Amino acid sequence: MGVRFLKMAVIYILVGISIGIYMGTTLNFALTSVHAHANLFGWATMALCGFTYLLFPKASNSRLAKWHFWLHGLGLPLMLITLTLMVHGYAPNWIIMLKRIGEAVAGTGILIFAINVFSNVKASDFQNKRNDNVSMEKAGGEHFG
Ligand code: HEM
Ligand code: HEM
Repeated sequence: MGVRFLKMAVIYILVGISIGIYMGTTLNFALTSVHAHANLFGWATMALCGFTYLLFPKASNSRLAKWHFWLHGLGLPLMLITLTLMVHGYAPNWIIMLKRIGEAVAGTGILIFAINVFSNVKASDFQNKRNDNVSMEKAGGEHFG
């Protein structure tokens, strides 16, 4: 799951930076919020979640991680697309409703991530991995992570 999150995160930094460059060139800052959330809720948050899953396989293998992936993965684009339409003046009620749904879905994804972290991320798992690396290095093996 960690790698899937990292790949999704990289797509968001490409989108986020493209919007930033577009705003910088046109001096039209209407999309600031879309740019900020693509970069922070997309790239930064997803990459942090991805690294968390890479470091803690128990959390990554949990069904909660799959739920997080789909809710974050569907809710965020819904938020960003509806917000883009709204800042360009297209804001019928159904778009506003879809934006709220996107926010609720993405927010639920993060709630599930939080539950997963509290249930399946243990300091002892990280410590064991560090100890394994040290033993491998002492035995002349390759350094891991
Ligand atoms: C080539 C890269 C980038 C360009 C050209 C760019 C450009 C911009 C521009 C033009 C604004 C609007 C400023 C304003 O409204 O006064 C902005 C805002 C913002 N950018 Fe970027 N940006 C880039 C990369 C990033 C990255 C990588 C992040 C985060 C990881 C980021 C986070 C933000 C945030 C949070 C805001 C909103 C700040 C606020 O509300 O005052 N940007 N950016
Ligand atoms: C479901 C989740 C979220 C919702 C509904 C939400 C909603 C909002 C709203 C309504 C604003 C004000 C926008 C404006 O003034 O135009 C805002 C601004 C901002 N949010 Fe969020 N946000 C969410 C998640 C996040 C996350 C996870 C981050 C960072 C990791 C973040 C960072 C920011 C920043 C930096 C701003 C100020 C930049 C801007 O003007 O857009 N938000 N957010």
